[in-house]
Amino acid sequence: MSIIEAIKSRNSNAFMSEQDVDPGLIRQILDAAVCTPVHYCTNPWRFLVIQGEGRKKLGDVMAAHFAKGMDEPDSAENLVLLEKMRKKAFRAPVIIVVAAAKSDIKKAKMVEDVASVSAACQNILLASAELGLSAIWRTGGMTYVEDTAASLGFEEDSLLAGFIYLGYPLKEMPPKPRPTSEAFTRWMNE
Ligand SMILES: Cc1cc2nc3c(=O)[nH]c(=O)nc-3n(C[C@H](O)[C@H](O)[C@H](O)COP(=O)(O)O)c2cc1C
Repeated sequence: MSIIEAIKSRNSNAFMSEQDVDPGLIRQILDAAVCTPVHYCTNPWRFLVIQGEGRKKLGDVMAAHFAKGMDEPDSAENLVLLEKMRKKAFRAPVIIVVAAAKSDIKKAKMVEDVASVSAACQNILLASAELGLSAIWRTGGMTYVEDTAASLGFEEDSLLAGFIYLGYPLKEMPPKPRPTSEAFTRWMNE
């Protein structure tokens, strides 16, 4: 398959089985992920691979985030909601949390490092597709809250790009109609 065909046929797929993914395969995906353009050689890509019981810790971080927005987190009703939140971490056998680290290089710009990390996210989706895995890039409310990155052990001032859920597909997604670029493009050639 050509690269263009691979890009056009990729689909997000949230339907995945509990079958775990071999760490060797995940390393292969992440080695492809870091092959992005990057300015000033900042190497901003940071990954936290969460599998197995590690998902319980992620569920706790998710629940703690939502509990902060509740007046009475200990009420019976809210405890049910928080348990539901914890279970979200078990929607996939693997969750890769992706972040952009803030560089010490003076000239470096965070917006450029986030761009490079976003490209790494797309690389993860494409590499996963090639290896027969399903994947979906999710964010949700907790991604952009300062203490989430810290509670997951990322360096100070890191920005989270999202949570990529990964696993073996339970079903294939039908091909999606994709737009052409025409409506989003202007040309300046004279
Ligand atoms: C930065 C970012 C955050 C996203 N967050 C979510 C999310 O929290 N939940 C979700 O269902 N889809 C989310 N999406 C969308 C899916 O990842 C996916 O792109 C979308 O469902 C379209 O499917 P496709 O990738 O097959 O085109 C997000 C996409 C991006 C780029």
